[in-house]
Amino acid sequence: MKRQIRPPTSILPRKGGGARRAILPREGGGKYELERALDTTLIVNGTPVTRRIPARQHLIDFLREELGLTGSHVGCEHGVCGTCTVRVDGKIVRGCLMLAVQADGRRVDTIEGLSDSGEIAALQEAFHRHNALQCGFCTPGMLIAAQDLVANEPGASRERIREHLSGNYCRCTGYQAIVDAIEDVIGK
Ligand code: FES
Ligand code: FES
Repeated sequence: MKRQIRPPTSILPRKGGGARRAILPREGGGKYELERALDTTLIVNGTPVTRRIPARQHLIDFLREELGLTGSHVGCEHGVCGTCTVRVDGKIVRGCLMLAVQADGRRVDTIEGLSDSGEIAALQEAFHRHNALQCGFCTPGMLIAAQDLVANEPGASRERIREHLSGNYCRCTGYQAIVDAIEDVIGK
C-alpha cells in the first residue's frame, strides 16, 4: 500500500479551529517556540517606545499595526518595491526586511516624523508643484529615499537621482516628474 505523506504537525490546523503554534526541534533535543516575544525599546520619531514584541514581527508591521504609523506602506514584502522605507539610525532601510526587535536601542524615523519636523518640507512642496505623484502609494518611500540623497549628496546629478531611486517603484508616474522634483530641491 502506498504510504500517505503528511505535513509536519506544526503546520496542521488544530481541531476546532485556531492556528497551531510553530515549534521547531532544537539541536540536541528539546524544543523552542518561534513565537517568542522580547522586551524592546526603540526611539520612534524622537519618542522612546517600549513594547514586548514578537521575535518574528517585521519593523514595518510593528510601526503600522502597533504604533498606528501607517504613513509607510507595505507592498511586495520582500525588499523590492521600497514603499516600506524608513530610517534607522540615520540610514534608510526596508521596513519589511528588518525585524522590529532588531531596532532595540536604535532610532527609527518614519515619514510622519520627517514630515512633522519639517525636514522634508522642500521635497513635499516640490513633489506637489511638479505633480510627482498620482495614487501616492509609493510617495512616502520616495520622499524618505529622496531626502537621503538631498542630505548626503547635495550635488547629485539627474543620473545619480535615478540610480538612487532605482529601489523605489512607482506604478503611476513614469518617474519623470519625481526626478524633476528632486532635481529642483537639490539645485537650490
Ligand atoms: Fe518592503 Fe516592498 S514592502 S520593499
Ligand atoms: Fe502611484 Fe507612485 S504615485 S505608485
